[in-house]
Amino acid sequence: MSTPATPSASIPTFEQHFGRAPQVTASAPGRVNLLGEHTDYQGGFVLPTAIPQVTTVALGANGTREHRVFAADLNEQSVFAVGGNAEGGFARYVAGALALGGAPDGLDVHVTSNVPMGAGLSSSAALEVAVLRGLRDLGILDASDERIALIAQRVEHEFVGVQCGIMDQMASSVANSATMLLLDTRSLERHLLPLPAGAEVLVIDSGVPRKLAESGYNERRAQVEEAARLLGVTELRDVQDPQSVEALPQPLRERARHVVSENARVQAALAADVDAARFGVLMNASHASLRDDYAVSHPRVDALVALLQAHADVFGARMTGAGFGGAVVALVRAGQASAVAQAVLAQYGPEGRQVVP
Ligand code: GLA
Repeated sequence: MSTPATPSASIPTFEQHFGRAPQVTASAPGRVNLLGEHTDYQGGFVLPTAIPQVTTVALGANGTREHRVFAADLNEQSVFAVGGNAEGGFARYVAGALALGGAPDGLDVHVTSNVPMGAGLSSSAALEVAVLRGLRDLGILDASDERIALIAQRVEHEFVGVQCGIMDQMASSVANSATMLLLDTRSLERHLLPLPAGAEVLVIDSGVPRKLAESGYNERRAQVEEAARLLGVTELRDVQDPQSVEALPQPLRERARHVVSENARVQAALAADVDAARFGVLMNASHASLRDDYAVSHPRVDALVALLQAHADVFGARMTGAGFGGAVVALVRAGQASAVAQAVLAQYGPEGRQVVP
């Protein structure tokens, strides 16, 4: 769905597809995570920011007992019973949001998005949050932004089968692209913080499809839960002595080392004197940890990150999101993002693509 969110001539509108006007339209953004990766299911701290790309849904009652969901960019329609799940694909996110959001009768749903899919930029959270916002606008769902995020997370767990944390849904629901969201994923306490001064965010899609993401993700999660159990803590956030993980068997040792050190990197990034250069060093260390200890990177992603890290106007760069391919994020000298992207993509190859700015 890498097409403009504003329906263009070639993409049918709600009116054109369903033959009448929608009752409401609602949008929600994708996100890119700057620091704090694979810590949100261990009570950790994360620092995502919203990206400018959004998913937009238009909703209207259809007077039946079935929901009809039309993904306009894909020209794909899915029909399923009120309260039920869809057979697969994108419609499961919508089905889950409609069911858990309490839609009592059939709705027609029109979806457009320019959040890249399968790139680790939370196109699924954007879709869930957009649908839940639409239900709120219709007066069906009475929920705060935080509760919308929690319902969206349940959609992933109960309708899609991904045991994700809360970062993506909270970022889509409460973050904006001018600030970074500091989120305590245990208490959901949060603050919108300024981005490091003199820097801007660059996101490049590596073009590597995230094939093993779902199985690899659930496996990592099970490994760190086992590590926490062996260490006698509720979650790895509670580890007091980072050295204690070194006594764990492989690969739990490496997995736990990543989560504990990543959480420390977020804390370090919040110190008063942290500038863009220091923040970038922490991003570089995060990438090394995700590659070597958490084993969720990919050789092409490593190559792209290395090219970025070698550029004089880049403070730091890392993979972002669940991993196994997808996008990378860099913190770049203000005003230089597009020039950096051009130089790096010329070396990386034609499958790469600048996503932000
Ligand atoms: C996916 C999940 C998030 C988080 C990240 C890794 O995006 O949905 O909850 O675990 O991976 O940080």
